[in-house]
Amino acid sequence: QAERAELKARIRRLLKERNAVMVSHYYVHPDLQDLAEETGGIVSDSLEMARFGRDHPAQTLVVSGVRFMGESAKILSPEKRVLMPDLDATCSLDLGCPIDEFSAFCDQHPDRTVVVYANTSAAVKARSDWLVTSSCALDIVRALKDKGHKILWAPDRHLGGYIQRETGADMVFWSGSCIVHDEFKAFELEDLKKAHPQAKVLVHPESPAEVVALADAVGSTSAILKAAKELDAREFIVATDNGMMHKLRTLNPGKVFYEAPTAGNSATCKSCAHCPWMAMNGLAGLAHVLETGANEVFVDSAILDRARLPIDRMLAFTA
Ligand code: 13P
Ligand code: SF4
Repeated sequence: QAERAELKARIRRLLKERNAVMVSHYYVHPDLQDLAEETGGIVSDSLEMARFGRDHPAQTLVVSGVRFMGESAKILSPEKRVLMPDLDATCSLDLGCPIDEFSAFCDQHPDRTVVVYANTSAAVKARSDWLVTSSCALDIVRALKDKGHKILWAPDRHLGGYIQRETGADMVFWSGSCIVHDEFKAFELEDLKKAHPQAKVLVHPESPAEVVALADAVGSTSAILKAAKELDAREFIVATDNGMMHKLRTLNPGKVFYEAPTAGNSATCKSCAHCPWMAMNGLAGLAHVLETGANEVFVDSAILDRARLPIDRMLAFTA
């Protein structure tokens, strides 16, 4: 405890000394979420993390999250220094969509508009027409469909399938998935619903279709927070990374939140509902990068300029 408090004090001091601002995702450890907010940064979803980093005047951005979030920050602010507690913090969607294979897939469908989820490498973004996050994907694909576009979607097949069902757009899919959300199970969720019949079910759309079908609200991490606040219920079952529980509980003190069941159901799979890469962000790593300037994010400048176009399009669409 004393060591934790000492690390936090050091981080607060270093953020000030380095003129740095911290941007955290809802899935990282509560300490890193609270520190970001206490020191003038934010904790948010991947769309707002990108926008905040771009608009904040600080010349150093500290991104607590996963690699694609640090890269997006760098692409939007190439003149700024972007640091991350751990540069090996990646994402199964990013890993499952290598640029060479993805590029060949795009070449097979030259008539399609390439819409890519934010959870990808800078090189994959640079091969796309539009970038989306889960908070704007539905609106962007709907707008493209209304203009007559056919879509090539990558990489999350569950999110893509959800969008296709909602919009009726003509879509072909890359077959990626999130190792966390892919584990939520509909059969066990039905049992948990029976045990808590008053509970509303909140689901991130990276979850399988059968789980999404049981939801009272489907959406990004910020949409889940909004639904927890606005829905007329006292109990909720939440199908997303359990890092979300911190914000859900602190913002809704009178409400009760249960984790949706996963395959391992915690006995055999303790980290099923928590992203192992988000978990790599810690206080010690953060203090170290602020002290030494280590773990700076760089993006090749030719890729960066091209990758910026689809991100700018998304930010303009959602402004
Ligand atoms: P959000 O954009 O909803 O924050 O999701 C990012 C993510 O990695 C979900 O697993
Ligand atoms: Fe990627 Fe899933 Fe982790 Fe999000 S929770 S960063 S989608 S592996």
